[in-house]
Amino acid sequence: MGNLTIKKLKKPFDKTISNIASDKSISHRCAMFSLLSDQPSIIKNYLRGEDTMDSLKIAQKLGAKIEDDGEIITITPPKNLTEPDDILDCGNAGTGMRLYTGLLSGIDGSFVLTGDKYLRNRPMNRVVVPLKSVGAKIDGRENGNKAPLHIRGSKLKSFKYHSPIDSAQVKSALILAAIQGEDISYYKENLLSRDHTERMLNGMGANITTQKDGWIKIQPLKGKLKPLNITVPTDPSSAFFFAVAASIVPNSKVVLKNVTLNPTRIEAYKILEKMGAKIEYIKYEDIYEPIGDIVVQYNSLKAITVEKNIAWLIDELPALAIAMSIADGTSVVKNAKELRVKESNRITSVVENLKLCGIKCSEVEDGYTIEGGVLQSATINSYGDHRIAMSFAIAGLLSNMDIEDTACIDTSFPNFIELLDNLK
Ligand code: S3P
Repeated sequence: MGNLTIKKLKKPFDKTISNIASDKSISHRCAMFSLLSDQPSIIKNYLRGEDTMDSLKIAQKLGAKIEDDGEIITITPPKNLTEPDDILDCGNAGTGMRLYTGLLSGIDGSFVLTGDKYLRNRPMNRVVVPLKSVGAKIDGRENGNKAPLHIRGSKLKSFKYHSPIDSAQVKSALILAAIQGEDISYYKENLLSRDHTERMLNGMGANITTQKDGWIKIQPLKGKLKPLNITVPTDPSSAFFFAVAASIVPNSKVVLKNVTLNPTRIEAYKILEKMGAKIEYIKYEDIYEPIGDIVVQYNSLKAITVEKNIAWLIDELPALAIAMSIADGTSVVKNAKELRVKESNRITSVVENLKLCGIKCSEVEDGYTIEGGVLQSATINSYGDHRIAMSFAIAGLLSNMDIEDTACIDTSFPNFIELLDNLK
């Protein structure tokens, strides 16, 4: 549990922040993909949040040796993954559970994946149904839709699957199954979701290509992959809280260092820019991903309608809602019903909390409408959801906020409160 009181900022800030949490999606994948090599992977800046540490513990239970000198984590994979003598706890992490489900479906053994009370209530059919159709043996509550999930690893068939949802978790689970198959598999999604899996596995020697017609062609692995040697960049979703802070606190500016500039991850910044914030992207590296700094400067904001490329900003919509709540005019979010199955039902958790702050807003099945106004102090319910807690903490910079149940922040951004305090 734990509550947090945020006090209104008395003056603008101008900060360069170089220690924002490392990327959660990439860190999860480092833990899992290192198991596909026969040599040690070297990971710098691994995210030490609860979600990704849970993925690392699972890698260890599957037989990997983990060495951590406080800076670099070395993951030495076992020759063959071992059947663990206990359950595998994914904590709060949908990414952990869905990707491990894909990976373990093709590994000989019995595996039980579970998680906290929030994760155990999130839908798993989106990966379980297609995986079962290619021969995976998975069971769980509600016929496999809810964890705990029991996986009995088996030989998987190759497939051609057009996903009804644009989800990197589903795509990655299916890619992890496909590379263990005997023949080429094909996967398609309507909008390219974040593509860290394709980039990282290809960097390790896999052969995953996106064809002109949008089908992703996945070759089965011929043997073990090369190890990872990676410095995990800053998480653009975590950095975005500070981008919103600089956009709403008059005359403020922030430089966000070393962020992945992967186009499937920075759409929320583009929207904030369209709303009026001044944003610059300074790319200086390209290792697995384009990486650079993002500079965000205050400007008055105007309302916007967000209805396209939703998968590219799905995680940032709660923080964007804070910008919308003070923008001039009425903002609309559409085609975002995926928000209902995140760590909380984020359509309801955003709208109900904004109402507590005196903002006029309403929810529809696939989004919400927010009329810009003046944020008032309130006691916020985080619904146990890290991104809701952090979004409303940012709102607190304009008007004091009490946020209940903030322990969830540690799942993705353990030093968030310290960085927020540094804005004073
Ligand atoms: C993630 C994909 C997204 C995102 C989640 C992390 C990933 O979920 O919301 O925080 O690392 O693949 P979906 O793929 O379900 O949209």
